[in-house]
Amino acid sequence: MTSSSSSAAEKKIKLEIWKKVLIVLLVAFMIFVLIYLNNHESNQYILKTLELEGSVKDGNALFKTNCVGCHGITARGLVGPDLHSITQSFNDKEIIKQVTGGLTPPMPSFEIDPQNMANLLKYLHSLD
Ligand code: HEC
Repeated sequence: MTSSSSSAAEKKIKLEIWKKVLIVLLVAFMIFVLIYLNNHESNQYILKTLELEGSVKDGNALFKTNCVGCHGITARGLVGPDLHSITQSFNDKEIIKQVTGGLTPPMPSFEIDPQNMANLLKYLHSLD
């Protein structure tokens, strides 16, 4: 009787431990999935853009039609800030997010395909 009740208690403890292990594993798995989804989703466009070789000339043309209104014809700043040496304070990913994200009004979000985004990046690098 005593031994059977103690083994029942042991079983209970083991069950509790297994429950905790399972919860920890579930939480770890969920964190993993969230991180994966987060990176996966935002990186597709960014990775594609970073793979491509940009053209300063095309990037400059794009800048002239889309950005000069706020950043000035020579990118020295107007409503928006001076973009010279911007690539020293922002990395490429951050610049892509800045241009496509619309996170800092009044600057709008731009729907821009990866090749044109790569051109724009190349142009911004040429302003260093
Ligand atoms: C309607 C005006 C406007 C247009 C158009 C615009 N921007 Fe901006 N941009 C801004 C403003 C204002 C900021 C500052 C936002 C802030 O930091 O709050 C900014 C910030 C930036 C920054 C970050 C610089 C920093 O120091 O914070 C980059 C890079 C940038 N713009 C690039 C571009 C590019 C490239 C284009 C064209 C595709 C563009 N912008 C078009 C207004 C504009």
